[in-house]
Amino acid sequence: MEQKPISKAVITRLPRYYRHLGELMEEGVERISSNDLSQRMHVTASQIRQDLNNFGGFGQQGYGYNVKYLYTEIAKIMGVDRQHNLIIIGAGNLGQAIANYANFERRGFIIKGMFDINPRLIGRVVRGVEILGVENLEKFIVDHDVQIAALTIPKTKAPEIADRLVAAGIKAIWNFAHTDLVVPDDVVVENVHLSESLMRLSYRVCSMQDQKEQEKKRSNRL
Ligand code: NAI
Repeated sequence: MEQKPISKAVITRLPRYYRHLGELMEEGVERISSNDLSQRMHVTASQIRQDLNNFGGFGQQGYGYNVKYLYTEIAKIMGVDRQHNLIIIGAGNLGQAIANYANFERRGFIIKGMFDINPRLIGRVVRGVEILGVENLEKFIVDHDVQIAALTIPKTKAPEIADRLVAAGIKAIWNFAHTDLVVPDDVVVENVHLSESLMRLSYRVCSMQDQKEQEKKRSNRL
């Protein structure tokens, strides 16, 4: 199938399609119309058709979308149909929480190793993965064909570790440290900042409250 370049906005929405389609498969649903998918996902049917048309259109007039086919194709596009070996740098609260979340494995992300500098943590095992000293990083990356590194260390330490990861051949950094990393063009960084997400939530709830107050004032004046 010929693929057009896919916009960032569509890519951002794909994991949500993937999740809903996975749930539909679990419910035994084999096909679904864009209208039914639209009701389920609370987005317009035309948005769904537009998004999925990016991939040459998986739907058929009068038939809808074949759930399993669409799920498989989206998995291929996102690269979650294959295995990605992952390591976690920083085995503190957040690093251990990620390691303890079994669902990443179901998506093909296999946690191969964890690293820290704290001697009290080194040697401990989290869900079958031993925490190693950070001096073992480079060799481990090569030996275990690691592509992705999650950075859950303090922001002051992140740039130096990122440089070491890049030099060792890591191509993707899942960055939780609150700092913007500078990496070569062939290395991708996905920043995950829960506090930024909370700030967006705060903005939305505050603007909703402001709007309600303004409406109240307006109706009192009438
Ligand atoms: P933590 O203090 O429990 O864990 C940090 C771990 O990193 C410690 O075990 C420490 O020994 C280790 N470490 C420090 N320098 C290191 C180095 N050079 N190499 C390897 N390991 C090293 O902290 P927590 O709560 O797990 O948070 C970790 C980081 O993630 C912090 O920078 C925090 O600000 C950030 N964070 C980010 C969130 C986000 O949404 N992006 C949410 C929560 C925390």
